[in-house]
Amino acid sequence: MDPQAAMDLKGLPIKGTAMSKTADLKARQAAAVPPGVGSKGIYVAKAENSELWDVDGKRYIDFAAGIAVLNTGHRHPRVMEAVAKQGELFAHTCFHVASYESYIRLAERLNAAAPGDFAKKTLFLNSGAEAVENAIKIARIHTKRSAVIAFSGGFHGRTLLTLGLTGKVMPYKRGFGPFPAEVYHAEFPHPYHGVTTEQSLADLDRLFHGDVDPKSVAAILIEPVQGEGGFNVAPADFLRALRRLCDEHGIVLIADEVQGGIARTGKMFSIEHAGVVPDLITVAKGLGGGFPLSGVIGRASIMDAAHPGGLGGTYGGNPISIAAALAVLDVIESEDLFTRAVRVGQRMRSRLDALALELPAIGDVRGLGAMIAFELVKDAKTREPDAALTAAIVAEAERRGLILLSCGVSANVVRLLAPLTIQDGVLEEGLDILAAAINAALGREPARAVA
Ligand SMILES: Cc1ncc(COP(=O)(O)O)c(C=O)c1O
Repeated sequence: MDPQAAMDLKGLPIKGTAMSKTADLKARQAAAVPPGVGSKGIYVAKAENSELWDVDGKRYIDFAAGIAVLNTGHRHPRVMEAVAKQGELFAHTCFHVASYESYIRLAERLNAAAPGDFAKKTLFLNSGAEAVENAIKIARIHTKRSAVIAFSGGFHGRTLLTLGLTGKVMPYKRGFGPFPAEVYHAEFPHPYHGVTTEQSLADLDRLFHGDVDPKSVAAILIEPVQGEGGFNVAPADFLRALRRLCDEHGIVLIADEVQGGIARTGKMFSIEHAGVVPDLITVAKGLGGGFPLSGVIGRASIMDAAHPGGLGGTYGGNPISIAAALAVLDVIESEDLFTRAVRVGQRMRSRLDALALELPAIGDVRGLGAMIAFELVKDAKTREPDAALTAAIVAEAERRGLILLSCGVSANVVRLLAPLTIQDGVLEEGLDILAAAINAALGREPARAVA
């Protein structure tokens, strides 16, 4: 049944029709939750690996994974078992008050996993934004400098500093300023839109000559693969050039791996593909396997700059989330999710490449590992963004039981973020639905009546 069928245009129930649970929850949400908390209007009842079922019993294949969180799938048995075991011991003490071995063990494992042949330390927090905030704090106290350089199209969170660092206005920045000072943006390389590595480096040079002395810059912050910005992969030569610039001017290089990290691209950290070693790495999302956890991993000599009590928080490194994360790392190793990420990504890419050959509206297929996206354009030559088509594809897929997310500064990119643990059959089914939804949104196949 169409969950909306029982509602009139104002979202009120039509007399004599039974209201679906979805429609009821939509109405209650509208009354109780501010609209700023955007949501798709899917109300989940239960989820398993790469599938979820809503409150009205409709099944969805999940290509969103809670926005790149569920690399190990919904409720991985080993993660759930670790969480249940921890719940029998203690749920919260605050690491600053009564510390626990599991926090230290997870830090040791991440220090060993992160690139760089030097001593490392790790601090745990709750969200990606908090990890980025703390990475900047650490870079500032270490360098005794204040300026930070981030990139166009980057996304780093919804707190005020991370919004300042973010390079995408809608829906994140509009109306929420002013943002903290001493944040500068350079152009992220984007070959499909004609921005080469050389042009991006020239833009940094312009910043250094026109806006900010490199000797005042504490950090350069970059997503090696932009997430919200449209799955733009930073070219390896660009990342290498950033490393050189940072070394030359004593700047801390921070890789924001909140979306691209934790095996999503086929390596633990996406920057490893470029062979570049950052000074600090921010992680979140996939690390906790569905439980809130983030961290900053970095060179001990930089991480040690903050005075005791300067870092942390009440819930940072919560024992339940830490237990989940230790299990996530075990699952990544034992199920070899690195290889699986590459295979899932190859499958997605080959289906999309085949569709792009037929459909000029698919202007670009890109990504790394199982972080694959396609960009929709009105004209293959001008590459004018087609946000309306993008929204239509996402809506059509949802009607057919596939959850998708859009992204991109012009909201014209569809990203595929299936759990890395997705079964082959479910992956193929999801890709079939995706192809049908694209064709339907382009009018090549009748839009299907809602199941
Ligand atoms: C690269 C990146 N950094 C930071 C964040 C913010 O993370 P959170 O929403 O957990 O604060 C995100 C979230 O999407 C992200 O993709």
